[in-house]
Amino acid sequence: MADLSVRIGSLTLRNPVMPASGCFAIEYAEALDLNRLGALVVKSVSPDARAGNPTPRVAETASGMLNSIGIPSKGLEAYRRDVLPAYTTDARFDTPVVVSVSADTAESFGEACETLSLPEVAAIEANISCPNLEADGMAFAMQAESTYKAVSAIRRRTSHPLWVKLTPNAGQIALIARAAEDAGADAIVMGNTVLGMAIDVRTRKPKLGNVMGGLSGPAIKPLAVRLVHQCHRAVRIPIIGCGGIETADDAVEFMLAGATAVQVGTASFRDPAVMVRIVDGLAAYCDANDVERIATLTGAVALDAQLSDRWLRFAQQSG
Ligand SMILES: Cc1cc2nc3c(=O)[nH]c(=O)nc-3n(C[C@H](O)[C@H](O)[C@H](O)COP(=O)(O)O)c2cc1C
Repeated sequence: MADLSVRIGSLTLRNPVMPASGCFAIEYAEALDLNRLGALVVKSVSPDARAGNPTPRVAETASGMLNSIGIPSKGLEAYRRDVLPAYTTDARFDTPVVVSVSADTAESFGEACETLSLPEVAAIEANISCPNLEADGMAFAMQAESTYKAVSAIRRRTSHPLWVKLTPNAGQIALIARAAEDAGADAIVMGNTVLGMAIDVRTRKPKLGNVMGGLSGPAIKPLAVRLVHQCHRAVRIPIIGCGGIETADDAVEFMLAGATAVQVGTASFRDPAVMVRIVDGLAAYCDANDVERIATLTGAVALDAQLSDRWLRFAQQSG
């Protein structure tokens, strides 16, 4: 059987498959063996208590879903007391736990990540796809400067492994990924949902209480694969691919584009055990294709040399 382990900076994961933040809860332990996953990524927490967005918060679309859940939060103390222990103290599994943090200023990002730099936390994922109050609510990850500022503020306050989650809504993704790397990120998560909107044609009202929301699921997969490939061209740190993954073939596609590991979001809502099926499918893919170490798939997309050069220039110039 192939070696499915992958390395994300100083962390070794038993396989490259993990849940995407907000699409997983500890109750999934009833549907799948959490020891079969590479890591467990928890729903984002914000330092201040927040109610989340107005309802309705989800709407179905042709090949995905729209959500405007927001980051409902009771704050960091309640999170450490009521949420985290279920992941870190359960003797049934020893899978590394990754906390996800959202904040609305660079400094509060730094502070929150320092507070969560606990020995039982394997890595911190900074969800910088969230609104930056110091820039009229535009997400930190929309621009290289604000990405650099937020990631540096975090890096100054923690030496924990730091994953930085980018947004597919940004234009110059290569520059943004490089800003995250330069500021000290250990890995890039590419990426979050794509901004979308849906309208009920009978009532003429937006289907989401917040009017706009994040599109996820198969609809965004080709976009996410392209962004992963551009990031892979632009940085040396590992990339964790995310967006529309439903099968082992989807996961392989992200790895060939440049991902070292993958996160599964919306697909788990339909089939809570899908991640284990993806792990089994990856092992079968490796065996069928004489792949001894899955890590060798990262960036192994077959491009002819000329095309490859053109891509490299494109990725470096514009992102
Ligand atoms: C209901 C829902 C809640 C989410 N909550 C979060 C969150 O708290 N933090 C975050 O970084 N991403 C969140 N996301 C985004 C997912 O982690 C993921 O990046 C996105 O859905 C794309 O992956 P997918 O197509 O596999 O779902 C959420 C997505 C959904 C659908």
